[in-house]
Order: sequence, then structure tokens, then C-alpha cells
Amino acid sequence: MQKFSVKGNIIFTKDMDKFEIHDDSYLNIENGKIISISKENLFKEVVSYEGNLIIPGFTDTHLHAPQINNIGLGYDEELLSWLEKYTFPEEAKYKNKDFAKKSYSNFVNRLLENGTTSSVIFGTIHKDTTLLLAEMMEEKGLKAYIGKVNMNRNSPDFYIEETEESVEDTEEFIKALASFENIKPIITPRFVPSCTEVLMNKLGDLAEKYDLKIQSHLSESRSEIDWVKDLHPECKNYLDVYVKYSLARNNLNTVMAHCVWLTDEEKEVMKDKEILVSHCPYSNANLTSGIAPVRELISKGINVSLGSDVSGGSEMFMGRIISLAQMLSKMHYVHIDETQKPLTISELFYMATKGGGKFFGNVGSFEEGYSADFLVINDKSIQDINSRTSKERLERFLFTGDKSNISKVYVNGRRIR
Ligand code: GUN
Ligand code: FE
Repeated sequence: MQKFSVKGNIIFTKDMDKFEIHDDSYLNIENGKIISISKENLFKEVVSYEGNLIIPGFTDTHLHAPQINNIGLGYDEELLSWLEKYTFPEEAKYKNKDFAKKSYSNFVNRLLENGTTSSVIFGTIHKDTTLLLAEMMEEKGLKAYIGKVNMNRNSPDFYIEETEESVEDTEEFIKALASFENIKPIITPRFVPSCTEVLMNKLGDLAEKYDLKIQSHLSESRSEIDWVKDLHPECKNYLDVYVKYSLARNNLNTVMAHCVWLTDEEKEVMKDKEILVSHCPYSNANLTSGIAPVRELISKGINVSLGSDVSGGSEMFMGRIISLAQMLSKMHYVHIDETQKPLTISELFYMATKGGGKFFGNVGSFEEGYSADFLVINDKSIQDINSRTSKERLERFLFTGDKSNISKVYVNGRRIR
């Protein structure tokens, strides 16, 4: 049985509104789980990172692995033309195994070096290479939900599926992941415009049959929302399409990226069904989508997490995503709605750890029974001549540090970097 204690300045968010800080303390770990935090080591075996910060691994609840080669490209476009000009042609290349292997290898390394220990990932429509991605992630020891993407309408002829093959390939993909330890399949309709009602219903059936989670995009840009309205006059709103065609499973079983323009009615349903929002500030800014009203969403009791949305988003490091989310919330407060206070750093850190971690179970915190998924932060390169508290050091790491400050990565109590 694996038992050890890790020494350092331990900092995490049990609740949104404040940091829990235990300087010069021990994180006690048994069988990959947190047992306690103490001033003296509970176990004989001690791994000392004295002077360093110890924080939970980051959770990224929305990103596209096959868009890794496109990071930083095409942001003069808005969502729909960006998908046509940049995204679909690039994703179509993942039919080729060699291309996929090289690109996904880069993707997996970048997730790991940025300290993203848990993530919710879109693959492509290709079953075989999405499975390859899952194998590479499992091999690294990272945790993820990975989905084979489904698209059977409004897509270019070089990147589209027939309904039957889409469903069959998805079921085969689900079965192939049954033996994986840290990687789980997730149902992944690209978004409403890419999937017919028949396909959506069949994917919903698969989610029920195998008790699977669902990920998709919701209410990202205004032209996308208008398009969904035209496609589905029978539905009350965008979310209602997912509800009607069985793709809105409740109890934290569904994650929807963006949610920038939700109506009050949609917000009610998000709350009642406990659908997780993945807020993607980099993407929403790059693609001119808008500023999601995150303060309002959380005050209404909706669960919100953070996503990079690579490559609509151009940043994988969750620290920088926290910082942009805070900046946008301040601009929203000043320019749009003074009743909606800016997001605080502890709230955003919570979203980037425990808020997204909820989708995985006991992940993203250092409370008893949580997974021992943590990062060791060596912030020497960004310190100044004053002595700083651990909270200040964490803030500076998030706002000005980068992956070079992430010196070790642990998942389930095992060091993977
Ligand atoms: N909506 C449908 N597909 C995509 C995608 O790949 N990225 C983003 N940001 N939005 C989408
Ligand atoms: Fe996306």
C-alpha cells in the first residue's frame, strides 16, 4: 500500500470564496487519495518540496485535441467562418494515423507540462485515431473524458459521416475504452447544426445505455444561435434542442461549452438539470463571441468551470485563462452591468480546480478522499525582494507565471512528471 507525506506550502479552494492555506505542512496520501493535511508528517516516507507551493492539478473542461496545430491561427474570423476555413480542414487530416500520432503526441505533452491533470476533450469523427489519443493520454497517466465527434449534416463533404456509421463507430469507441483506467468515453455531438434529430436521439440512447456523460457547445455566438433557431423552429431555444433530442442528461452528466448568450429560461434549465458550464474566455475573445455573464450564472446556482477551448482559445495554461476570465468579468462589470461584480481569484481558482473536478468526482481539492492530483510550483523565477504570502505567490504564478514554474506533476499519488 502506497503511503507518503508531501511537504510544502499547501493551497487550495474548498469553497469558492476563499483559499485554504497550510504553510510548511504535510499532505498525507494513501493509495492515491488525500488522507489529511497536518503540521507533522503522518507517514514515515516524506517527499519534501519545502518552500514550494503545492496546488491541485488543473481541470480543463473543454478543448479540442485535433486543433492543437491551429493554436493562434485565424482569429480575424468569427466562429462559423473560422470552422469552415481553419477547423474542419485541419480535423479532416486525423484520418491519417501518422499525422494524428505526431500531433497528439505534442498535444499530450503540452497538457502535462501545463499541469492540466484532468480534461474533457473533443477528438475528431475518426474512431481509430481518437482511440489512439485515448491510448496516449492513458500512457501518460493523465485523466480525461474523450469523445469521438459526431457530425452528419451541414459539414463539408471531406469531413462528414452517415448516421449509421456515426452511431456504430461511437459504440465501438465506447467499448474500446472499457478497460482504460484514467480515460473515459463521453458522447460528443459537435453542436446542434452538425447533427440531425435522428442522430441526436441515437446518441442520447447510447448515453443512457452505457451511462455516459455528454459534452457539446451551447450558445456561443449570435450567428450560431440564429442558425439553430432557423434549423429548429419547433424548439423554444438552443438548449431546448438538446433537451428535446435527449442530449441534456442531468446531475453533472452534461458539460456545455461557452453559454455566452443564454436566455433566462435556458439558465433555469441549466440549473435544474445541473448542467456544467465550461467558460472559455480566450476563445470567446478570439472569435468575437462575447463575454459570458459568469457572475450571474454562479449567483443563480449554476455550476461553472473553465475551458481553454483550444484552438478557438490560444492558451493552454489555466493560470492565464483564470487571469483573462477575471479581466473580462471586470470589463463586463464596467461596461455592461454594474450589478454583476467581477470574479475573484479564489472563485476562478475554484472553477479551474474543484469546479471542473466535480465532473470527475472527488477531484480538484485537498479534502479527505480527494484524488492526490497535485502540482509543485517553483516560483523562484518570478519572486521579488519582498517576502510574500503563499496567496500572493499563487496570484503571481497565475497571472505572470507559466509552465516553467510547474516543476512536478502528480496524479493519483503517482509522479508523472
Ligand atoms: N462549435 C462547433 N464546433 C466548434 C469548435 O470546434 N470550436 C468552437 N469554439 N466552437 C465550436
Ligand atoms: Fe469548442
